[in-house]
Amino acid sequence: MSNTNNIHPIFDRLLQKEDREKRLGQKAKVLWLTGLSGSGKSTIAQALERKLYNEGFFPQVLDGDNIRIGINNNLGFSIEDRKENIRRIAEVAKLYLNSGIITLNSFISPTKEIRSFAKNIIGDENFIEIFVNTPLEICEKRDVKGLYKKARAGEIKGFTGIDSPYEEPDNPDLEIRTENLTVEESADKIFDYILPIIRI
Ligand code: ADX
Repeated sequence: MSNTNNIHPIFDRLLQKEDREKRLGQKAKVLWLTGLSGSGKSTIAQALERKLYNEGFFPQVLDGDNIRIGINNNLGFSIEDRKENIRRIAEVAKLYLNSGIITLNSFISPTKEIRSFAKNIIGDENFIEIFVNTPLEICEKRDVKGLYKKARAGEIKGFTGIDSPYEEPDNPDLEIRTENLTVEESADKIFDYILPIIRI
């Protein structure tokens, strides 16, 4: 007896991404927000999540600070750890994607290599790169979490934009220059861009 006799493939019976998308009434995508700490990524993602929900979509935010106290609480901020941080997040986002969900990922994801790594895991056609472009001076002036002050004082080493690199995306799908926009206006710009993509 061949040893495949007792194997019963179930792939044709498993629910597909398309089945779940149909149930949820949307096309699942991963919106990848990249930008400096304090650029507004998380706040914009939260506003966008609410807007999508109110418009009948089924979104889920994945956010740096939350993930880093949970699944990634063993990782720091070396380039290697950031890469592992992003690898795990991309794998999680892929699970959500295959569940038909629109994920809003808000992570610094500081280098081109790290972002293309994430894109490879998720797949080109489902990865939408959004550059939340806020100049360093403004992030530093806002300093919502007080981290830039600590980084300048040398109390935090390897802080993005200060003594650790941030490489701007060359060719993002969308760029949001937040400087003269409210949070709602930024979220609306992303919403208008993705609506034709996520609508069934
Ligand atoms: S990433 O580089 O690995 O993508 P991630 O988005 O998860 O970073 O986490 C960034 C958040 O961690 C920042 O918004 C800030 O609150 C906090 N943080 C703590 N230390 C650092 C650091 N050295 N560089 C950047 N952010 C830091």
